[in-house]
Amino acid sequence: MRMAETDKKATLQFEGKTVELPIMSPTAGPDVIDIRKLYAQGDVFTYDPGFTSTASCESTITFIDGDKGELLYRGYPIDQLAGQSNYIEVCYLLLYGELPDKAQFEEFSYRITRHTMVHEQMHNFFRGFRRDAHPMATMVGVVGAMSAFYHDSTDVNDEWQREVAAIRMVAKMPTIAAMAYKYSVGQPFVYPRNDLDYASNFLNMCFSVPAEPYKIEPALARAMDRIFTLHADHEQNASTSTVRLAGSSGANPFACIAAGIACLWGPAHGGANQAALEMLRTIGTVDKIPEYVARAKDKNDPFRLMGFGHRVYKNFDPRAKVMKESADEVLDLLGIHNNETLKVAKELERIALEDEYFIEKKLYPNVDFYSGIILEAMGFPTAMFTPIFALSRTVGWIAQWKEMIGDKNQKIGRPRQLYVGEAARDYVDIAKR
Ligand code: CMC
Repeated sequence: MRMAETDKKATLQFEGKTVELPIMSPTAGPDVIDIRKLYAQGDVFTYDPGFTSTASCESTITFIDGDKGELLYRGYPIDQLAGQSNYIEVCYLLLYGELPDKAQFEEFSYRITRHTMVHEQMHNFFRGFRRDAHPMATMVGVVGAMSAFYHDSTDVNDEWQREVAAIRMVAKMPTIAAMAYKYSVGQPFVYPRNDLDYASNFLNMCFSVPAEPYKIEPALARAMDRIFTLHADHEQNASTSTVRLAGSSGANPFACIAAGIACLWGPAHGGANQAALEMLRTIGTVDKIPEYVARAKDKNDPFRLMGFGHRVYKNFDPRAKVMKESADEVLDLLGIHNNETLKVAKELERIALEDEYFIEKKLYPNVDFYSGIILEAMGFPTAMFTPIFALSRTVGWIAQWKEMIGDKNQKIGRPRQLYVGEAARDYVDIAKR
């Protein structure tokens, strides 16, 4: 890790006090004022809901330049990785910091492939859920429950156990997501096949049935793999920060990843892919778009265009650019050109990109806008969109969690607050209130 310390200082003056704060310099991105000693030296806190100006950790994994629309995993641009690499290689890169050589790649693939089955008793655990449970609800429960099935990889202070937990989760997450899907549609679980690559195996577990052979279309497997790669990590977003916060207490890795999945489910985060496609269906026809665009602009209406906007990207979302190309390829391959949802999506994208409100607020289609279109074309129901995001992001969460455990500056996460409630007052007996 590069040292971020510099000789630069920021001086904060208030109420006759002066506090000098060190300035740290990242590899890329703006300087960071180190406020760790601020409370001790100045007796003040900072207030930053949503962490819009606050770095919560040092990290070497992922970098985003929101103005340039740049996303790097360990320094490598996302479009190069999505175009030339593959998800397993990207997993290795995120977890260990460098691209693998051939032998490392083969050994890593072998380990992932040999851990794809879940404990047979977990099948019973799945069956405890209602048939109509959302697969994300099932995933939160099942991944959390892994700590009850794999006791030998829950000790966060043991490096080997951390490593085994990481491999287990990357390997088993497609199996768990596919099982959640199969259960929701009343079909039998399909066991993983170790002769298939990661993406093909996932498609097979989702779409094959014992009654007839299932042919995996290589181009669709490649598109699936690209979706995994594009979602693999995204630095300190809400779910990753949740994983780190949960992990900061020493919670076991399965519990931390379950917490990340729960956070990802929200429509402002990973749940946006499902919400975006449902929105396109609700809009229904191209002539209804102006009505919804007007609602999105109305301050008194909570409606937002799902799949638009991003906290960090203010120019374009580089993942969306690759995803859009991939969507075109998949739709061509499947011969889908004139479906109504797609027409609404294309027209909505065109209108929003030309509309003053969206231009001024720098609201562009994000990754979730296009991923739903591809996943629907592949045959996934909308409820599976966010589970697919969760399985792709698992490696990023684990890489961040492992980094946090190894960080000498790591402390239990414990934000302060700006208390605006009642001052201390005496209890009044119920008869006198
Ligand atoms: N539709 C209409 N207006 C919007 C939208 C939208 N999708 N997004 C932001 N705005 C407006 C918002 O009303 C606000 O206006 P004003 O300044 O007048 O109050 C301004 O743009 C800034 O919005 P914000 O809520 O302060 O921005 P944020 O950085 O807190 O939120 C966001 C980012 C992604 C949560 C938000 O853009 C949003 O809710 N988008 C829709 C959900 C979505 O697509 N989420 C997926 C994000 S990418 C994948 C992922 O992270 O999982």
